[in-house]
This record gives sequence, structure tokens and C-alpha cells, in this order.
Amino acid sequence: MKRFLKIIFGSFSLFIALIAVGLGYLKTNTIARQKFFAGFLNKISDENNTAMMALRCNEVLSHSRIHGHVLEIGAGTGINLACLHNNTRIIDYIGMEPNTHMYSYIQTAIKQWNVPFEVRLSSNSATAMTDVESNSIDTIIMIFVLCSVPDPLSKELLIEAHRVLKSGGELHLLEHIAADSNMKPMMYAFQRFIEPAWTIIGDGCRFKPTTNYLDQMKTIYTKVSYQKIEIPIPIIVARDGIKGVLTK
Ligand SMILES: C[S@@+](CC[C@H](N)C(=O)[O-])C[C@H]1O[C@@H](n2cnc3c(N)ncnc32)[C@H](O)[C@@H]1O
Ligand SMILES: *[C@@H]1O[C@H](CO)[C@@H](O)[C@H](O)[C@H]1NC(C)=O
Ligand SMILES: *[C@@H]1O[C@H](CO)[C@@H](O)[C@H](O)[C@H]1NC(C)=O
Repeated sequence: MKRFLKIIFGSFSLFIALIAVGLGYLKTNTIARQKFFAGFLNKISDENNTAMMALRCNEVLSHSRIHGHVLEIGAGTGINLACLHNNTRIIDYIGMEPNTHMYSYIQTAIKQWNVPFEVRLSSNSATAMTDVESNSIDTIIMIFVLCSVPDPLSKELLIEAHRVLKSGGELHLLEHIAADSNMKPMMYAFQRFIEPAWTIIGDGCRFKPTTNYLDQMKTIYTKVSYQKIEIPIPIIVARDGIKGVLTK
């Protein structure tokens, strides 16, 4: 029995040690982390999660809202093309995505969905979209991006988005946020506890008070509206979210 426990405990320690070494490697090596994250995101982007796809396609990216010259910030694996491909109001699409290891997945999505509009991919950060003209974009979409943009760049990104939007243009967003420390103190504490590892696996994603950044935008945008929602994914710790619209 003692020997059995020793083996179990030994294997467990080895397992933890391997994870620690892996995380250490990902932490220090940016290219490995980006590659890992591209593959990982592709694995967990589950098009069969109908509740999640309904939130993306019917609520945030519904055809009545998204039109014209469209810019996606943090296009990732191109999962949102599943919602956009049959939107006949879209003229063209720019996918802003600095992690170029995502591009092969985006190309696959373009083929899978027979995307009819022109797609241009750009590796610029959305905090400095030097290849996008001011006042040129009708609709910006941004899903699960702000959590991996470090402060104070979130604010810069939202200001840069305002620059490229046409007057009356809209930014539609869906984001993970930090749990409310008053309403859900246990969840808030748990998020703080796992954040160091979460950040490494999730390519810099943190649990952030994103509503504060949006509130700051009220002096810059004509209209800022958002509401807290529950994100229908199996990972309980990442269910706190918001959806919102910023109008120039
Ligand atoms: C969690 S993924 C979400 C991808 C996709 N939007 C989705 O809904 O699955 C966040 C993406 O934002 C990208 N990203 C991070 N910082 C960015 C920045 N400054 N500008 C543009 N994209 C950025 C990351 O490379 C990553 O692909
Ligand atoms: C989604 O469902 C399809 C058809 O049932 C299947 O081929 C595909 O592998 C599934 N994708 C995931 C990510 O589970
Ligand atoms: C567009 O395609 C999606 C996914 O293929 C589908 O669920 C949706 O009903 C389609 N919408 C329209 C308006 O055809």
C-alpha cells in the first residue's frame, strides 16, 4: 500500500514538474507560445457548441448589425467567419492578427465557409493600425481580445478603433471580464489565484475590469453601451463576460 502511494505520488509530482517546465518554456519563448496558442485556440474553438455559436452569430455578429467595410480585431483562427460568410451586406473584411501562426487556420476557415468577400490579413497590432485609413471602416468586431492586451494598451486600442471607424460606425465586442469582487468574491479570488498560469496558457489573457475601459470611452465615442452576460462555455472560471457596442 505504501509503495503504491509512493508510485502514485511520484507520478503526480513528475506530472506537475513537467507542466511547470512546459509553462516555464512557454513563458520565456514567444514564438513557441504563439505557435502553441494558435494550435490550442483551434482545438478549443468549438463550432459545435451551439449556445456559444448562437451568442457569437445571432447576438454579437447578427447580419442586421454587421455590414460594409468590416475590420476584425484579433481574428484568431477565423472562427467568426462562420457567422459572417453568408452576410451579403459585407463588402470586404480585414483580419487584424499579430500572431501569424493563426493564418493557416484562417485560410482553412475561408475555404470551409466559401467566403465570398475579399479578405486581407494584417499582422499589425490593433493599437497601431498604420495600414488602415482613418474614417474608412463601417463595422469593427472584436471577440475575446481585450483580456490579452496589457494595460495601458486597451485604452490605446479603443482610441485607435475610433480613428479608423466612419462617423456613425460601430464597434461590436464580446469579452471575458473579471468576476465582480462584491457579488462573487470566491470566483474573484479564484481568478486571482490561477491568473499566473492562466496568463501563460492563454497568451497573456488576464481577468480584467473591462467595463472601466469602456466607461472611459464615453468621452470619445458618441455612444457606449454594454451589458454583463454569462458566456456559455465549460470553463466555469471564464464565464463572466460582457457584450457591447461603441458608436463613433
Ligand atoms: C483569445 S483570442 C480570440 C480569437 C478570436 N477573436 C475568437 O473569438 O476566438 C485573442 C486574439 O487576439 C489577438 N491579439 C492580441 N493582442 C492583439 C493586438 N494588440 N492587436 C490585435 N490582435 C491582438 C491574439 O493574437 C489572439 O489571436
Ligand atoms: C463538430 O461536428 C462535426 C459533425 O458532427 C464533426 O465532424 C467535427 O469534428 C466536430 N468538431 C468538433 C470541434 O468537435
Ligand atoms: C448563415 O450561416 C450560418 C452557419 O452556417 C447559419 O447558422 C445561418 O442560419 C445562416 N444565416 C443566413 C441568414 O442564411
